Amino acid sequence: MAENIKTDSRLTSENARRVLRRDPNPHLFRPITFRGVTARNRIMLSPMCQYSAQDGLANDWHFAHLGARASGGAGFVFTEAVHTEPRGRITPFCLGLWTDQQLALIHL
Ligand SMILES: Cc1cc2nc3c(=O)[nH]c(=O)nc-3n(C[C@H](O)[C@H](O)[C@H](O)COP(=O)(O)O)c2cc1C
Repeated sequence: MAENIKTDSRLTSENARRVLRRDPNPHLFRPITFRGVTARNRIMLSPMCQYSAQDGLANDWHFAHLGARASGGAGFVFTEAVHTEPRGRITPFCLGLWTDQQLALIHL
């Protein structure tokens, strides 16, 4: 099987060569910088609605959910969709950003 992978013409990039060499420092685990902000690796938590907010306010659940992924090592942690007006929410339990209190609570 490994022989088949080595002869696959799609796997010619430096990254693929690292994987095939069992590089202990593969691309995925290397830092990356966007506009001066550096993430420790390229692993990203996708945004996922938690349906746990009241009045659009972030609470302990959001802090624990996102904080666990960050402390677990993900380089990027995206919040769920955050809505700029109440009528734009997917559900009444989605996060909002139309009051200063909402901003203060989500600005971790
Ligand atoms: C429970 C759940 C909630 C999600 N909520 C959001 C969301 O709030 N905003 C968003 O852009 N995508 C949301 N998604 C989509 C995910 O961010 C992601 O794009 C999707 O799961 C596909 O991921 P993948 O391409 O890594 O398979 C949600 C997905 C799941 C499973």
